[in-house]
Amino acid sequence: MKFLGIDQFNEREKAIYLDNGATTMIDPKVLKVMTPYLTTEYGNPASVHILGKKASIALEDARTTIAKSIGAKRSEIFFTSGGTESNNWALKSIAFNNMDKGKHIITTKIEHDCILNSCKWLKGLGMGFEITYLNVDKEGFIDVEELNEAIRKDTILVSIIHGNNEIGTIQEIGEIGKLCRDNNVYFHTDACQSYTKTNIDVRKQNIDLMTLNAHKIHGPKGVGALYIRKGANIKPWQHGGGQERGMRSGTVNVSGVVGFAEAVKIGMDEKHIQYMKRLRNKLINGLLEIPDTQLNGPAIDKNKRGDWRLCNNVNIRFKNVNNETLGNILNIERVCTSAGSACSARSSKPSHVLKAIGLTDADIKNSIRLTLSRFNTNEEIDKVLEIMPGIIKKIRKGSFLDKFASYVSR
Ligand SMILES: Cc1ncc(COP(=O)(O)O)c(C=O)c1O
Repeated sequence: MKFLGIDQFNEREKAIYLDNGATTMIDPKVLKVMTPYLTTEYGNPASVHILGKKASIALEDARTTIAKSIGAKRSEIFFTSGGTESNNWALKSIAFNNMDKGKHIITTKIEHDCILNSCKWLKGLGMGFEITYLNVDKEGFIDVEELNEAIRKDTILVSIIHGNNEIGTIQEIGEIGKLCRDNNVYFHTDACQSYTKTNIDVRKQNIDLMTLNAHKIHGPKGVGALYIRKGANIKPWQHGGGQERGMRSGTVNVSGVVGFAEAVKIGMDEKHIQYMKRLRNKLINGLLEIPDTQLNGPAIDKNKRGDWRLCNNVNIRFKNVNNETLGNILNIERVCTSAGSACSARSSKPSHVLKAIGLTDADIKNSIRLTLSRFNTNEEIDKVLEIMPGIIKKIRKGSFLDKFASYVSR
């Protein structure tokens, strides 16, 4: 997707940031607790002197916070550079360490690219790995019965995204976890988008491995974690100085990890979830008043399952409105949105997630994602709802084309 120059962006007032599924603003409180570890308390946690000791205490405190937040033990949390690394580690390590049991992996058609591409890579090795991609229904839910039928004697791993990054579908991981445990198959879930926005308990939900990251929850970029249940057959990911109990060598990003834990402490508050939900519902209901508009992903009210949509996700399509044109006009209006996930936003490839829920290529081209955070305000949503009907109307009439073309040609 083509985007307008940043130069126009800095000229005027603050943007309305509705792309929190791509990344979030760092919470100033998070930055504050990180700063000492970038300045005065810069020791290496592996060092035995006073600065090293301080860093190591901070690192272990952060580990405790993250472990508690998901019902895990401290020794089951391993820090990484983010969601991509944790997902790669989980999939590839389980695959290589459990070949004696089998080489079959089950995942879904709506995973993040780092899962899909890891699966593709494993299959491409020619070592016999086989991947089953589960279908999803039109709201993005897998069918647990289909999963049950897909599990074979040689299945070693089921990897299913918890909260979908594009359409916000939250899978029933408790039910999936139980099925996997009953069948003696490892269950991994990518919880980057759902962490702190849903209840996660790795024991109650029978989760063996879980991917987390910081930058989706107002923490710093480049930090994440992999939860590995004690006893899971997984081997070291990076070899070197033996950090992270020998499982992931490399000097740990102490300031990042401290910021990650602070972001979790602040984020795990039900009032933030309820606040984002109110904004989300207001935005969805307001946008649905525009003629020929449809919500992509789970319904927010009349869904028989209850509310199984991420509290910050809106993905919507406006008939005959090209998402690239709409995104660019909104950008000019200082509203940051996305046509899909951040990773696919810069490619013209139609979203695999929207395809999986049955949308046509035309529907996909008409779809836009708006993702909220606790830092968005009611006034911002009012502003978006005020300008959208006019923009949509003009795009449908084709009367924005001149204005748009003049911006793109700058
Ligand atoms: C669901 C999901 N998994 C994984 C990732 C990758 O995480 P990171 O950017 O920390 O590598 C993202 C971020 O785009 C995501 O949304």
